[in-house]
Amino acid sequence: MSLLLFSLLLLASPQGTLAADQQPPAKPILTPIFKDPSTSLYTIPIKDGAAPLVLDLAGPLLWSTCAPAHRTIPCNSSVCRVAGRNPQAGCACTSGGQPNTNTNSTGRRCTCTACPYNLATGQCGRGDVTAVPLSANATDGRNPLFPVSFSAFGSCAPDALLASLPSGAAGVAGLSRLPLSLPSQVASVLRVAKRFALCVPTSGARSGAAIFGGGPFQLLAAPPVDVAEGFFEDPHPFHFLKNPRNGAYYVRVTGIEVNNERVPLPPGIFDLHARSGTGGVMLSTMTPYTTLRSEIYRPLRRAFDAATSGIPRAAPVEPFEMCYQVSALSSTRLGFGVANIVLLLDGGGSWLLAGNASLVQVNDRTVCFAFLEMGSATVVPGSPAVIFGGFQMEDHLLLFDLEKEAFGFRGPLPGIRTHCGNFDFSMGSS
Ligand SMILES: *[C@@H]1O[C@H](CO)[C@@H](O)[C@H](O)[C@H]1NC(C)=O
Ligand SMILES: *[C@@H]1O[C@H](CO)[C@@H](O)[C@H](O)[C@H]1NC(C)=O
Ligand SMILES: *[C@@H]1O[C@H](CO)[C@@H](O)[C@H](O)[C@H]1NC(C)=O
Ligand SMILES: *[C@@H]1O[C@H](CO)[C@@H](O)[C@H](O)[C@H]1NC(C)=O
Repeated sequence: MSLLLFSLLLLASPQGTLAADQQPPAKPILTPIFKDPSTSLYTIPIKDGAAPLVLDLAGPLLWSTCAPAHRTIPCNSSVCRVAGRNPQAGCACTSGGQPNTNTNSTGRRCTCTACPYNLATGQCGRGDVTAVPLSANATDGRNPLFPVSFSAFGSCAPDALLASLPSGAAGVAGLSRLPLSLPSQVASVLRVAKRFALCVPTSGARSGAAIFGGGPFQLLAAPPVDVAEGFFEDPHPFHFLKNPRNGAYYVRVTGIEVNNERVPLPPGIFDLHARSGTGGVMLSTMTPYTTLRSEIYRPLRRAFDAATSGIPRAAPVEPFEMCYQVSALSSTRLGFGVANIVLLLDGGGSWLLAGNASLVQVNDRTVCFAFLEMGSATVVPGSPAVIFGGFQMEDHLLLFDLEKEAFGFRGPLPGIRTHCGNFDFSMGSS
């Protein structure tokens, strides 16, 4: 099916593809990633000459506000059928055909619409599917090389859907495994691999970076290091799990340890149910802090509380429940010296959440346990058991191969004396 879709998208590609005077680069493209200090969301300046888009790792499509006059797509096109799949649970809007009221502009009887969704607010809207002009730099994985302009299908959205997004953002770039996501469309339009790498920066650091189209992914260090090395070539990759209800990436977690001790949790608590799509550990850059169902959050909090009992506490700062005095903490190469949290992964891997991933500094004197309890209203059919949030991904390189359905990560990068702010954005020579 992916081969068929690939050619459909190629045939129907919104704007030819590259400017006629450019050869298809068949090179990955690079974009910086910025962290918005007030929302803790991440943006990429990929929309040609316009406001940035918010990164939504789990998002199915690109959406943004549109000019009143914009191109529309007929609803009997192949793209429109794709746009109508995977409706957002709980969204009243349905994608697909919409009788054209604006017969003025195109004379088409039916224009294609989609249902853009804002995961930060849970709102959905409706908008025309259109061609969104994008631009970025081609890259060899070390530097930007030359600018590339292209366009991808995306959905228009009402201004109201921008609520809770960083001020100045024009919309969202979905990076899911679905066909209208940014990585899927970049792969078909620019003829590069359906792979991407994401390095989200910490607050206040220089911009992080994302590369769509494959490796390498070099960060400055002494000497510079290709952090993606080996991942895309791995013959036995770690697979992400797929939810039949959405395009998000789910990671197989089997348990959690605090200071090498297993946190007691009900068996099967992390399972993703194959049919209903309920449960599982979902990766989300739209969720600033990892959020866990009560049955997981409470035992984890209790274990961390016990493991840090010697550290003087501070008054809790919303939305966090457990805080410490900064002055009482030592610091290590991985941030504050506290109990380590480790996610145990299926197949024997583990994901270390050291001091900089488990504690967030909320003011000069206070750091807090950077995990949140899922509200009972959020625990509905189809909801994950854990939403692994942006803060815990910072200073890690996340790698995705959509063909092989593989996921990998490298980090925490300060452990190898580099970080996501270390991509060299000075122009290289192609
Ligand atoms: C879509 O419909 C129009 C007229 O309604 C027709 O001319 C066109 O060939 C159709 N396109 C496809 C891809 O079915
Ligand atoms: C239709 O076109 C006329 C003149 O070209 C314009 O004044 C009017 O606003 C248009 N209507 C719509 C719904 O776009
Ligand atoms: C390409 O990279 C250069 C150097 O970092 C930057 O100034 C420019 O804005 C980038 N172009 C695009 C289209 O991202
Ligand atoms: C920890 O995070 C802060 C900001 O979130 C950053 O400034 C600092 O460099 C990080 N420290 C390490 C060791 O990663």
